[in-house]
Order: sequence, then C-alpha cells, then structure tokens
Amino acid sequence: MNSFSILATAKAVPEKIVTNDDLAKIMDTSDEWISKRTGIKQRRIATKETNTSLSAEVASQLLKNADVDANDIDFIIVATMSADYQMPSTAAAIQGMIGANNAVAFDISAACSGFVFATHTMNALLNLKPNALGIIIGSEKMSNLINWEDRTTAVLFGDGAGGMLVSNQGDGEILSSNLKNYGDEDKALLAGHLTGSGTFGKSDDDTDEYLHMKGREVFNFATKNVPASIREAAKQAGIELSDINHFVLHQANARIIKSVARKLGENADKFPVNINLYGNTSAASEPILLSEMMENGLITKGDIIALSGFGGGLTTGTIILRY
Ligand code: ACO
Repeated sequence: MNSFSILATAKAVPEKIVTNDDLAKIMDTSDEWISKRTGIKQRRIATKETNTSLSAEVASQLLKNADVDANDIDFIIVATMSADYQMPSTAAAIQGMIGANNAVAFDISAACSGFVFATHTMNALLNLKPNALGIIIGSEKMSNLINWEDRTTAVLFGDGAGGMLVSNQGDGEILSSNLKNYGDEDKALLAGHLTGSGTFGKSDDDTDEYLHMKGREVFNFATKNVPASIREAAKQAGIELSDINHFVLHQANARIIKSVARKLGENADKFPVNINLYGNTSAASEPILLSEMMENGLITKGDIIALSGFGGGLTTGTIILRY
C-alpha cells in the first residue's frame, strides 16, 4: 500500500450569490421552505465562469499552494457531471491550460459520488509509479442542467469547484475505500440527456436535457445507504467510527447529514456543513468543504477523515484516509 498525502487543497466558486429570496422572485418558493427542508440559504451561480475556468483556477491554486511545477504532475482527474463539452474532457482542457505537459488527464462521471470515485481511481494510479503527483478536482456548473421553471430541483443546486494535490510519498494514507453502484435505481436521478437530430430515427426516450430527481426516493436511499457505506469502510479500515475525526459528507441536504450522524451515533459536530452557503454542488461539494476546513485550520496531521458521497447512478462511496 502506497502513501497518499494531501499536499494542498483549493476551491473556486463563481462570484454571483443567489439567495433564496432571489429565487422566490422568479418561482413559487420561499426562503422558509428551502431553509427548513434543505439547510440552503444561498448558492453561487456562474455567469461568466465555466466549468473549465473554475477547474483551471483550482488547479492553478493547487500548484501554487503546494509549490509544485506543472510539469511534475503525473495525473489529473476531474469528477464532473456538468462538463462544458462532452469532448474534450474538462481534465484534458485544464491539462493544457496549466501546462501540465507530462500529465495523463481524464474526467470521471459518478455524479455526487464523483470526488470519492476519482480519489479511489487516483490512489490506484499513484500505485503505478514511484514518486508520483496527482490533481483531483470536483467541478460542477449545475446551473447548465437546471430547469429554472422546476422549483423542486432549481432551488437545490449551485456551481463551484474544489480539489486536492496528492502525492504517493509522505505520511498520509488511504485506509479504506468502499464504492457501490445501484444501477437498478438509475432513473431516480437523470440529467443531460442528449437527443440529437433524429435524422435516421429517434429512440422513444423523450426525457429532456434537464436534471430530474425523485427527491424523496433519493433522500431515503441516502439516509439508508450512506451510514452503511461509512460503517463498512470503517470496518475495512479496522477502525471504530469514534476514531474518525471528520465526516466530510456530500452536501446535498443538511437533514440527510444530521440523519447520517444520528444513525452512526456520532456527534453532529464531527459533520461539518457548508450547504447553507453553496447549495448542492455535486462532485464539488466535498473538496470545497475540505478546502475550507484546511483554510480554517480545522484539520491537523494524523487526523482521520471519512469522505462520503452519494448520488446519480445511484451510487455511494466512502474513503477513509489519514491526513
Ligand atoms: N418551494 C416550495 N414548495 C416546494 C418546493 C419549493 N422549492 N419544491 C417542492 N415543493 C412542494 C411540493 O410541491 C410538495 O407540495 P405538496 O405537498 O402540495 O405536493 C411539498 O413541497 C413537499 O415536497 P416533497 O418533494 O415531498 O418535499 P421533501 O420533504 O421530500 O423535500 C427535497 C424535497 C428537499 C428535494 C428532499 O426530498 C431531498 O433532499 N431529497 C434528496 C435530494 C438529494 O440528496 N439529492 C442528491 C443527489 S444530487 C446528485 O447526485 C446530482
């Protein structure tokens, strides 16, 4: 088992803040409904920023914060479900933008579990090469996928990116990784359906391109399967839940996070929350939160962190690492 050390974290969010009251002006909703059901008070929405520009900013900050030359990066993985283009990948675009001339770069699509799936994949790649460095980014422009006339989804999401620069040298390590797919529940969350012109005929799937979610189903899925995923990951790591210092969960709903804490019998203080500021930023939510925790000095060397995500697929994923 190689090391997995976090050398730097970073985040980039759009400038524009859209509050719940702003949304109440354009759709039939209220700050009271959104805050009570989700914990969200505001979100960042991209105006001039793109998924690629947010990712590139995170990558540049990571290089600066870790004092690493772009040419020394071996792998770049971007987790996203809202890339600006189907091709090239966001990772390929930023590889060029930051001048990481020796890096292999590609995207991973695992929705809100994307950052955990990408971290798992990076760990496997780092095993292939002595002295390797990797950049893992979760980046989303969810506002591209939102139907602003659908209040049941429009109030939930936000745009942003976060990431970490990691090395297979040093004291950090991944203690366990528990990823799961539930493909039989694939229709509970859908977004970005490509339909094409249909010149030579059309499939009978008439789903539009917007994000669709069976909210209650996903809520129940998460409150049942996220605690199970964390328990299994802790067991695999050979540690007790009480050994985990920070539970960095996907920020989809403050009520889900509270429920997971309760089901695990762990103090809610160990479950940081910033969904009030950013909404659900899908694959970006965990690295944005992690980066803010690092900035605020909340994580110290040796701390054990559980990164846990869930979402479209459906999927769950938990990684337990020692910082
Ligand atoms: N404003 C006001 N009222 C609303 C809004 C809104 N924005 N949206 C829905 N309502 C109404 C509904 O129409 C419904 O009205 P009715 O009772 O008259 O029919 C009522 O509020 C209750 O709606 P529910 O959908 O039952 O509300 P619920 O308590 O389930 O909360 C929510 C909805 C917040 C979406 C919740 O189900 C949830 O958080 N689900 C999980 C979502 C999630 O975690 N997604 C993560 C994955 S994201 C990814 O992978 C990209």
